Amino acid sequence: MIKLDLSRIHPEATGSGTISIEETAMKANALLSGGHGSGNDFLGWVDLPSSIGKKDIDDITTTAAGLRELAEVIIVIGVGGSYLGSKAVIEALGDSFAYLGLKRGAPHIIYAGMNLSEDYMAELLRAVSGYSIAAIVISKSGTTTEPAIAFRIIRKEIESRYGLDGARERIVAVTGNDTGVLRSLAVAEGYKTYTIPDDIGGRFSVLTAVGLLPIAAAGIDIAALIDGARMAQAATAPGVPYAENPAARYAVARNILYRNGFKTEILGCYEPKLSGLAEWWKQLFGESEGKNGKGIFPAGVGYTADLHSVGQYIQDGERTLFETIVSVASARHEIVIESSPDNLDGLNFLAGKRLGEINRTAELGAAIAHTDGGVPNIRIEIGSLTPFNIGALLYFFEKACAISGHILGVNPFDQPGVETYKENMFALLGKPGYEATGERLREKLREKPSEKPGE
Ligand code: PA5
Repeated sequence: MIKLDLSRIHPEATGSGTISIEETAMKANALLSGGHGSGNDFLGWVDLPSSIGKKDIDDITTTAAGLRELAEVIIVIGVGGSYLGSKAVIEALGDSFAYLGLKRGAPHIIYAGMNLSEDYMAELLRAVSGYSIAAIVISKSGTTTEPAIAFRIIRKEIESRYGLDGARERIVAVTGNDTGVLRSLAVAEGYKTYTIPDDIGGRFSVLTAVGLLPIAAAGIDIAALIDGARMAQAATAPGVPYAENPAARYAVARNILYRNGFKTEILGCYEPKLSGLAEWWKQLFGESEGKNGKGIFPAGVGYTADLHSVGQYIQDGERTLFETIVSVASARHEIVIESSPDNLDGLNFLAGKRLGEINRTAELGAAIAHTDGGVPNIRIEIGSLTPFNIGALLYFFEKACAISGHILGVNPFDQPGVETYKENMFALLGKPGYEATGERLREKLREKPSEKPGE
């Protein structure tokens, strides 16, 4: 299970008054389960692990197996909550170097639709030219520009290679229930589709087909992932006392730190396979909490590499940071440092130790150093990287984030700020309906001609 260690938070950083925040956290947790509170039309994720049936899991697994049979490379097309969750899980549980041994039946998953880079797309098309491909296109709204453009390009590639019938076997769409263009396109073309429930927002959707289909396509046991999430659902339910509820305690700790001037939270992982998890976590907390002029800024660091770069700032820079370490208790593989007869590199003092032990010692040393340097340290420990443990971790963070947002006093489930750039981009590109904004922006550009696209 998830072990939460708050013993490295300085008392002076936490101040007093925790009792009232604890009560707020417990009330927030009850609101979430009761279907109340701000954003209560987006609470479908709360009971999702316990409500997913075997039939749903089997159906997703079967579709994924079909894609695995057909393709050496599966392209997952989506942005934000529509790809970060699956990427996090696939990186955590997959083989870091699988791309060196592409073969049918064990496809490599790659991603598109999360940027507008011409070079990225051109290189992607070139890279897959020698491999059989399939695509999973994911967009709840069905209208998001980045994945829509990527899908147009990749669909054409698939159709030109395999024809319309082949494309029907190789393309699966995961989208909302409404009238978005992705749904109408998928229906018109006869693609297999999965529906994202109306009451689950993108960043909370990893345990729907949004995450589960790509994860299953990567060959990961999604039933075990759901089992882990189910366990975390029970461990963080409103009936669990505060002292035993890791999600409520984490939410409270970070809010107390925030109120005491710690405005940035860095999620640090000593396991590079968790760098995708940090990206998913950044979106989850950043998009849920950063609003109304408030919110902890979420940043990710990869240790030990970043101890040799931003480590200096963390140890010694402006004291507004706190650190949350996701620690993996045991590695899946074993590498023992051997003794060397000449000891030319001077490392014989490590002989007989496992690499993972040295990694955990680095973690301990850095935690003590950072705490001494004025960076409060929260530690979240999971067992080894298994589908069960990752499923539990995902749900733990979702629950903690929702409780934390309520303590902060924001609606954790909307993202009004994301719309501003989209409106400007559509207006500048001449999308019908955005003429007034276009006129306003052109006026601005006349004042600052150097900002015109392409100049
Ligand atoms: O969490 C969210 O709601 C967003 O990050 C969305 O997932 C992201 O904008 C993609 O939206 P869509 O799935 O509608 O294409």
